[in-house]
Amino acid sequence: MIVVGGSASGALSRELARQTGCRMADVEIRRFPDEEGYVKVKESLKGQDAVIVQATYPDPNLVELFLLQDAVRNSGAESVTTVVPYFGYARQDKSFTEGEAVSARLMAKHISLGSDRAFTVDIHNVSVLEAFSVPVKNLSAMPAIGRFLAENSVDAIVSPDEGSKARASIAAQAAGCQWDFLQKKRIDGNTVEIKPKNLDVSGKTVAIVDDIIATGGTVIKAAEQLRSQGAKKVFAACTHGLFTGGSLPKLQAACDRVLSTDTLERPTSEISAASCIAEALKNTSG
Ligand code: R5P
Repeated sequence: MIVVGGSASGALSRELARQTGCRMADVEIRRFPDEEGYVKVKESLKGQDAVIVQATYPDPNLVELFLLQDAVRNSGAESVTTVVPYFGYARQDKSFTEGEAVSARLMAKHISLGSDRAFTVDIHNVSVLEAFSVPVKNLSAMPAIGRFLAENSVDAIVSPDEGSKARASIAAQAAGCQWDFLQKKRIDGNTVEIKPKNLDVSGKTVAIVDDIIATGGTVIKAAEQLRSQGAKKVFAACTHGLFTGGSLPKLQAACDRVLSTDTLERPTSEISAASCIAEALKNTSG
């Protein structure tokens, strides 16, 4: 097996190579003056099982993935596994109004074209996997997040809503700590209280765990509420730190610590998603 690192996922690719004991392929990736991409695999991959790792956000990285897939095939690879750590467009997973492109499905179809199999990590909605035309599995960085939080003295984990409670429970299991989800309760016409369903957070270090932090609105609101309920410290941790619209400084002001994985390379990427990918590769090789 050989790891082919895309430019959006350099750190994760190197960590994956380290954890699997595999070599990184020698690949040249650059941009022409007009910003079009250029990819060249600078060695023969004849007979190799190539594992391409490339997040598909923003758009130029998606095109780079297609170029990597083509270059890897042209270099003689025996098989191509595509790992998409952050799957761009995953949130447009259906037609919300008539006439819309179902972007997530379209991306899955096109990523399949250059792959023998694929892996995603904490994809927003697993129903997107049905659009792949090759075997695909969604992996989770939640155990890695849970282990990191345990090492950093977190007492409890909460998910920001009931819909994502399964993720919080997986992280909490790995951390060996309590968990809950936040529930909205209308107090009066103007006030909505957001509270853990059962957990008393007073005096505790609590981590809000989610798949994506985008505008930060969900986490900032939750952090304010947890503080008002007596939480000693509030951390925010997610798999994919999108941090759109310059939301990171606002999140850092609202939380004691903001953490994300390396599915998107950010200053907050203190946790690596490599372990879940390495384990999946180990379980499916040979
Ligand atoms: C929602 O379904 C997701 O799990 C996240 O809670 C959401 O994407 C976070 O978005 P934002 O940071 O913009 O509130």
